[in-house]
Amino acid sequence: MANSQDLAQLIAAHAGKEGALLPILHDVQHAFGCVDGEAEAAIAKALNLSRAEVHGVVSFYHDFTPAADLRPHIELCRAEACKARGVEALVDAAQVAAGERVKLKTVYCLGLCSVGPAARMGDALYARLDQAALVALVEQA
Ligand code: FES
Repeated sequence: MANSQDLAQLIAAHAGKEGALLPILHDVQHAFGCVDGEAEAAIAKALNLSRAEVHGVVSFYHDFTPAADLRPHIELCRAEACKARGVEALVDAAQVAAGERVKLKTVYCLGLCSVGPAARMGDALYARLDQAALVALVEQA
């Protein structure tokens, strides 16, 4: 985990606001690549919650991870519209290309339903993926 001063600043940016827990967790995950035990404890203290309450939220949502995974991440949409547009036929080739080097994560809708199959890497969105385009995306990650 990064230093506690950075963590305190992220928490302070939301503390006092209603429903601050999820925005804080997203910011911590984005900044440090994980929400570890140290972060859970600091967030719980700042929001006057129990550590169990914070851990329950962290462990419920797949967006939050207890340890940083430094591999490149690609999110591949496998929701209904992308399924209808053929994403399932691309998955095996993408997984082979990813191997252990790239984390290929299934998500359910990236908001590009009419131009799927869709994927996201970092802040970039990719649409109308065919097998060659998806494999190239994985290989350049
Ligand atoms: S269903 Fe894939 S982007 Fe919406």
